Amino acid sequence: MSAALKSRASKKALTTKTREFEWRDQDYKFLAKLLHEKTGIVLNENKKEMMYGRLVRRLRLLNIKSFGEYCTFLQGPSGGEELDFTLNSITTNTTSFFREMHHFDYLRDTILPPIGNHINQNPQHNFRIWSAGCSSGQEPYSIAMVMKNILGSAARNCKILATDLDSNMLQHGKAGRFDMEICKETIPRSYLASYTKKVREAGKEMIEIRDDIKKLITFKQLNLLHDWPMTGKFDVIFCRNVMIYFDQETQNMLAHRYAQYLKPNGILFIGHSESLLKATDIYKCEGKTIYKVVS
Ligand SMILES: C[S@@+](CC[C@H](N)C(=O)[O-])C[C@H]1O[C@@H](n2cnc3c(N)ncnc32)[C@H](O)[C@@H]1O
Repeated sequence: MSAALKSRASKKALTTKTREFEWRDQDYKFLAKLLHEKTGIVLNENKKEMMYGRLVRRLRLLNIKSFGEYCTFLQGPSGGEELDFTLNSITTNTTSFFREMHHFDYLRDTILPPIGNHINQNPQHNFRIWSAGCSSGQEPYSIAMVMKNILGSAARNCKILATDLDSNMLQHGKAGRFDMEICKETIPRSYLASYTKKVREAGKEMIEIRDDIKKLITFKQLNLLHDWPMTGKFDVIFCRNVMIYFDQETQNMLAHRYAQYLKPNGILFIGHSESLLKATDIYKCEGKTIYKVVS
């Protein structure tokens, strides 16, 4: 289900007076605990309606009669396979192109110009960015467009790893097709002209990201709570509007883990309502929600 559909489904559930499915406190507690254990996401009591709205279609599809039955199903022999669907339905995937524009300005004006010079002098030099919690791809595609614009042919030495837990979002990201109207509002006009093309899908006008931009990105499923199989360090990590959903302990753990995956002087971008208060010994603030790892 797309992020927009998920949100519409939640709103519909909120306005529905008589529930289609029985929804007990114990079912909500079970699902919230499962989500926390598997993803680090913390949901409090006021998210009960949201969770109902996001899972209701799944119950209909499986022809399951109550949330109690769904919880039992999750604990049974097919529970492992079903878990992926549960997590995909519950995660919040809100994103947009060039969200928090000042990060892309910093990338364009401060990070990329010296990298371009460096690559021209050292053709073997590799530049690596990780978009951690990339949702449906708007974040890594925004990074790639700025990179291509500033570095030109030197962008061939650059790689963006885009990871998320939600396999539906990754599929969407890989396809690189987005709603035309939204793109017109969020992607700068010159980038739209250079890095996207118009396509039609089910009678609707869409834009598709051009192949030279797509090629810069590798989409992979990765749960931030599990092992990180990447070898080599990153110059820049974007982890924006992801840690906000986690408890303080998980946020601290991730901030320290990111530091180990950054090259000396590497940069970590976080979301507008996130902070690295408990990791001030390892990061130096370089601007609003922009942090440099202390080597
Ligand atoms: C609100 S979106 C943020 C997207 C993008 N970074 C932005 O700022 O626009 C949060 C994303 O984090 C992902 N996420 C949540 N928990 C995760 C976990 N444990 N491991 C990996 N991704 C996770 C969700 O699937 C979702 O796509």
